[in-house]
Amino acid sequence: MSETVNHKSSRREFLGTSGRIAAASVLAGTAIPAVHGAGMGDTIQVALIGCGGRGTGAAANALSTPGPIKLVAMADITADRLNRSFKSLHDKPAFTSKVDVPPERQFLGFDAYKKAMDCLRPGDIAIFATPPAFRWVHFTYAIEKGLHVFMEKPVTVDGPTSRRMFALAEAADKKNLKVGVGLMSRHSRALQELAKRVHDGAIGEIVLQRGYRMHGPIGAFHSLPKPPGVSDLMYQVQRFHSFLWAGGGNFSDFYIHIIDHQGWMKNAWPVKAQALGARHYRQSPEGVTYVDQNLDVYAVEYTYADGTKFFFDGRCMNGCKDIYSSYLHGSKGSAIVSSGGDCGMPSKLFKSQSMQDADLIWESKVAEGEGDPYLNEWIDLLDAIRNDKPYNETKRGVEASLVTSMGRMAAHTGQEITYEQILNCDHEFAPDVDKLTADSPAPLQPGPDGRYPVPQPGITKTREY
Ligand SMILES: NC(=O)c1ccc[n+]([C@@H]2O[C@H](COP(=O)([O-])OP(=O)(O)OC[C@H]3O[C@@H](n4cnc5c(N)ncnc54)[C@H](O)[C@@H]3O)[C@@H](O)[C@H]2O)c1
Repeated sequence: MSETVNHKSSRREFLGTSGRIAAASVLAGTAIPAVHGAGMGDTIQVALIGCGGRGTGAAANALSTPGPIKLVAMADITADRLNRSFKSLHDKPAFTSKVDVPPERQFLGFDAYKKAMDCLRPGDIAIFATPPAFRWVHFTYAIEKGLHVFMEKPVTVDGPTSRRMFALAEAADKKNLKVGVGLMSRHSRALQELAKRVHDGAIGEIVLQRGYRMHGPIGAFHSLPKPPGVSDLMYQVQRFHSFLWAGGGNFSDFYIHIIDHQGWMKNAWPVKAQALGARHYRQSPEGVTYVDQNLDVYAVEYTYADGTKFFFDGRCMNGCKDIYSSYLHGSKGSAIVSSGGDCGMPSKLFKSQSMQDADLIWESKVAEGEGDPYLNEWIDLLDAIRNDKPYNETKRGVEASLVTSMGRMAAHTGQEITYEQILNCDHEFAPDVDKLTADSPAPLQPGPDGRYPVPQPGITKTREY
């Protein structure tokens, strides 16, 4: 990396430079290399890497922003996902003219990310919406190519790759690259207004925080044994919520948003965690034993440096009370941060702890057109790119990912885990993930009983499995 980080390349600089090259080329009577998008003007080109649900959504958000923008390349490891994503974007009338991805710019395989990014010019944008195991690999290449990035959360799932991503955050800064991280709470106009008020002391000192994400099993929360006809590797990648190396399990994938915005409200990250976790239901209704690595209940006590606590409860279980929201308790009042979902509006402030309407002192109101944090995060990123404003959410995204992993590791080991411990933990879940090919063995191997290892709190104490 080190040879490549000293070169500054903002879009503005790039356009300025390419303008000069164009002028020089005209004078010299030589052709301008087509790769630099001659005739593209200010149009920002986008490559989508990971064409699943969120990747397709992020591309749609990008194409919904004002200003010239085009999707020009797509990469995935399965044709089916890529085709579906392409069709759903291309067939939407508002996007048809902005989706310029002919078959020769649709790439498949574990190295497809490189080919998609090779279609871009410095100053264009790469979207990373694969499972998080691949973030550092793709980010390394984007920085080498001078690309701005939008990457989905979580951005890491373990200590070693977090350390790597912190270094990459600095490398991106040195190249003046703009990086958005899909922790969209941060771009909720309601939560932004709430944070301002809370930081200004509207409810005094925060003494307690609570967060809940409890609902039935969703996504790939649990997995049955691999069916024939698919490799172990592909099975684990496609069902990444089930496997810690690929996605950090349901804990990292589902719980990071509330953990992130509670750290923001507190203006600090917790310094340690202790947690409970258990798996009540390990068999499907048909009696087949699930092979994933998740627990179905988690209860985390996070502690901040000032001794205050943030309690987070997560549950994936049918038939129980569903709660999916977050709260603050201060020395002079309380707040609803997310009233439903990861950052659902409205946010509210109360002068008591009981959160009754009679005690309401403020309720968020968001301007028309600014109610979608997924769109806002793109408007904010593109504003930074087009106007060369400082914008790199990587460090904060890694911190949120690490604090999430800290709570998960506390539950999975049955030990108190500090921020320093998770940061310096040497268990890299998927070493050499950058070298994977379709034929590689999966990073997680089944034991002699045909089952993948699962956390054993109190027995496996210094690593999660
Ligand atoms: N911010 C949010 O609210 C939000 C919501 C949903 C998902 N996400 C995040 O987005 C990411 C993707 O989640 P999803 O729900 O879209 O999953 P998904 O399974 O629908 O999509 C992932 C896609 O990535 C592809 N892929 C996997 N490995 C790849 C690789 N090495 N190279 C190229 N393509 C690869 C898969 O084939 C699949 O098409 C996850 O990190 C998830 O946490 C964020």
